[in-house]
Amino acid sequence: MSLMWHSDEPKDGVLWVTINWTERPVNALSRATLRELSQLVTHVRTDSAIRGVVFKSGKPGSFIAGADVTEFQKIQSPDEARDFVELGQQVFDDLASLPVPTVALISGACLGGGLEFALACRYRIADDGRKTQLGLPEVKLGIIPGWGGTVRLPRTVGFMEAVPLLLTGRTLNGPQAARKGLVHDSVPNEALDHVAREILRTEGRTVRHHRLRVVGRLVNALSPLKKLVLWQATKQVLATTHGHYPAPFEVLNVLRAGLGQSDEEQLRLVREANARLGESPVTRELVRLFFLSEGAKKAPDSVGAQVEPDSIRQAAVIGAGAMGAGIALLMARRGIWTRLKDLNPEFVSRGMKTIRKLLSSDVSRRRITALERTQALDHLSPATDYRGLKNADLVLEAVVEELDVKHKVFDELAAATGPQCVLATNTSSLTVADVARTVAHPERVVGLHFFNPPDKMPLVEVVRGPQSNAESVAKAAAVASRIGKTIVLVGDCAGFLVNRLLAPYMNEAGHLVTEVEDPLQIDRAALEFGMPMGPLELIDLVGLGVSSHVSENMQKAYGERMEPAPVWKSLRDSYDASKSGPPKVFIKKWFRRRLNPAVRKAIADLARQSPTPPQAMSHEAIVQRLVYPIINEAARCLDEKVAASPDDVDLAMVFGTGFAPFRGGPLRYADTVGIPKIVETLDRFAAQNARFTPCEALRRMATAGDRFHRAES
Ligand code: NAI
Repeated sequence: MSLMWHSDEPKDGVLWVTINWTERPVNALSRATLRELSQLVTHVRTDSAIRGVVFKSGKPGSFIAGADVTEFQKIQSPDEARDFVELGQQVFDDLASLPVPTVALISGACLGGGLEFALACRYRIADDGRKTQLGLPEVKLGIIPGWGGTVRLPRTVGFMEAVPLLLTGRTLNGPQAARKGLVHDSVPNEALDHVAREILRTEGRTVRHHRLRVVGRLVNALSPLKKLVLWQATKQVLATTHGHYPAPFEVLNVLRAGLGQSDEEQLRLVREANARLGESPVTRELVRLFFLSEGAKKAPDSVGAQVEPDSIRQAAVIGAGAMGAGIALLMARRGIWTRLKDLNPEFVSRGMKTIRKLLSSDVSRRRITALERTQALDHLSPATDYRGLKNADLVLEAVVEELDVKHKVFDELAAATGPQCVLATNTSSLTVADVARTVAHPERVVGLHFFNPPDKMPLVEVVRGPQSNAESVAKAAAVASRIGKTIVLVGDCAGFLVNRLLAPYMNEAGHLVTEVEDPLQIDRAALEFGMPMGPLELIDLVGLGVSSHVSENMQKAYGERMEPAPVWKSLRDSYDASKSGPPKVFIKKWFRRRLNPAVRKAIADLARQSPTPPQAMSHEAIVQRLVYPIINEAARCLDEKVAASPDDVDLAMVFGTGFAPFRGGPLRYADTVGIPKIVETLDRFAAQNARFTPCEALRRMATAGDRFHRAES
């Protein structure tokens, strides 16, 4: 009985192999499944009746999703890492050197080791379905493609195209892969078998052979140009990673050192690189976050009820603004019949225009087909009233952040929907309890909090209000799961988990601008720490108006410690007075970012009133001011059971805000710093201002010598 590679007798000399790991939901390459492939390859080599092999997945949506990541957890030493890498290299080399043609028919995820397997086949044909994704995302897990990808990818798509694919781990769908020459063709799924038969019948004469552009051919031919490509890429990697992620540098080293070397030597370099990376704490954190996010693809058991994501058929989104339009599109794209309502036809059509733009950009980037765009639009119906909501499974409110308006909308919704319908709010700073206060059936009200922009940000907070029932929470989680989001279940409080933790960070940036000599240093320090953008840039992204409004709500909920920084207050007041729109923190001048003169003036006015002049501050001191309050607030959230575990906090902050993934999240970072040091530093800051005072929970941890995470995890 085979484990993953199933085949019958050859038909007309062709061996059809179905890839289906019977014990697992997805196909992956473990030691056992690699050994089985090795036996199959030997069998093909020795059986003269076989004149061609076709590999095809027996699992819809998964060709081969990659190496079996659970194997990584078993690896205890660099030698074991080397052995695992070598095993895959040998098996794929054997496969690549088979004298008979091999065809990979790719449908579904073909990632990492899965793509390295396909690259070792002589022909690759992908289907054009949404689930088909090809790529080498190893760097995202802190390792580098070990099973020949660094050698075969440049050979297949050209050195210049391969470098960014290896460094970013970007994935391509079938048509994109065909355009780059990664696969020989992309065809509808039903045509795959026929194409494979034709390839074997005509000995490959029917396949298109990708021709590189002139520059690509020149780079392939000339080593100095390859070195130039690597030099450019190194500069780019340094700029984007600030040197925090070793894997992209190892990719560059392997490519550089491998120039002009034999395949064996290049593969040896890869083994050594992965043995080193296996020991890196960054790899450990990235693998841990990968497991946490995989586990968060569906509702946790603690919800207390289960709803199948596929059972969600109809939904509605109220408010076709920045958030509502994006969320409605996500639902429609996953086949949920979605109504999008706003106050008048003009606002609804503005939302629909946003949606059409997003879809068209996806079509032009070949992320989706024109047919998928039509299907998504077919699933959307614009509306200015509440008709047709009686059978909706869930309605999401995404109207302006004003409690009175939300109350009115929820009252109307309670009347317009059936008893089965969950009423969800996307509020960013109110509580579910606040929103549900006037609703006749508060047990149906939950929070479903998306992040901006909703099509890009992977996280959704599913919020259990004090009166929400388990079925409603489970249904909301099922919607989030259906649209492919990472789910964190959180308790009800202003800002929920992520915005509550982000609020002191953003606010602290406002305090710092008047205290440091060079306010631009704040963003630089945050970037160097590993944040995807600085807090001041983030304020511009969210908008000063919105973020001031949020911080006022946060102050109402949490009092003094969240009192908006004076600079934000003064800028907001000047905006209220002038009605000309809130100023941006930065303006662009001569392609460089500068502080907006209005902001500079507000800072100078405040500095004049302060007894201490702005000072030079180290990046470390700035980071402590920005990040330690997040940790303090997180300790409160755990104590209040707003977050169920430190892992949830880390996952939510990394996936919701991009908090330095290589650090594993704020609480993993707290453990590496040590809780006593954090408490001591916060106490020192608190001597100047009480907002820093460590919470009781954090103090208790410091006294008991506790960590957020167990030492070995
Ligand atoms: P927005 O101002 O872009 O859109 C709000 C829309 O709601 C407008 O089109 C408005 O016409 C419509 N609206 C107002 N009253 C309505 C009613 N009675 N019926 C139907 N539509 C009505 O606001 P945005 O940014 O989309 O935010 C919406 C909600 O999402 C807010 O609660 C906000 O706090 C939350 N949120 C916003 C995020 C952001 O970054 N913008 C992130 C996460 C949540």
